[in-house]
Amino acid sequence: MTTSDLYEAMRTQRAVRRIRPDPVPDDVLQRIFEAATYAPTGGNQQAWRMIAVTDPALKEQLGALYAGQWQPFSDNYRKAAETMDADAAAAMDRTLAAGDHLAANLGRVPVVVIVCFKPSGLAVTDIDQERVPVVGGGSIYPAVQNLMLAARAEGVGCVLTTLLCMSEPAVKKMLNIPDDWATAAMVPLGYSVGVGYGPISRKPVDKLFCQDQWDQAWDAHP
Ligand SMILES: Cc1cc2nc3c(=O)[nH]c(=O)nc-3n(C[C@H](O)[C@H](O)[C@H](O)COP(=O)(O)O)c2cc1C
Repeated sequence: MTTSDLYEAMRTQRAVRRIRPDPVPDDVLQRIFEAATYAPTGGNQQAWRMIAVTDPALKEQLGALYAGQWQPFSDNYRKAAETMDADAAAAMDRTLAAGDHLAANLGRVPVVVIVCFKPSGLAVTDIDQERVPVVGGGSIYPAVQNLMLAARAEGVGCVLTTLLCMSEPAVKKMLNIPDDWATAAMVPLGYSVGVGYGPISRKPVDKLFCQDQWDQAWDAHP
């Protein structure tokens, strides 16, 4: 394996929200979907499923639901941008414009992946803690990340989105998702309108890793 390819994929995997309607070949989709199946899950239960929505009418309906959630969400961010410095506000503007584009064009994205999970199939080892449980997501989102990294490797644009979870009952009805299953994400897949993947902006290792104690920064200097 060439590690440099994997690192390069991770380093350039930014959110791609402007997606062309051109179809993604089936063999490409098959490889991307297979990559998702490799992901680890608690007890290897694989209590997730992904619905690849390709039907134009269904995608339009999902787009309408998504746009309904995106609107108030983006309004809040637009308001917040008013108090940001010029660079941050400009970056936020670009993100919101791309988000507007996705919300308005979801129906024309070739494949809209709806990520589902079965709550009873997750190993939720933090369920008794006095905080929001997150461990269950560990049996879902690694598959999503594998899917997205594979899409990156194939030159297919995508973005992890979760706003549609706020419309879960309507999505379940639309896609015939069983009562004992739920939704965790929506990932649009397709070729990018522009350059697509590229540089990302993230905190450095010493801001995110500690050594031995919470208040000691990781201090390795290779
Ligand atoms: C859990 C999660 C939920 C997200 N939900 C949405 C969403 O609903 N809509 C959207 O446009 N982007 C969504 N994103 C994408 C993030 O906004 C994006 O990954 C982040 O701003 C970094 O952007 P960049 O990769 O282009 O640097 C989500 C990302 C994550 C990890």
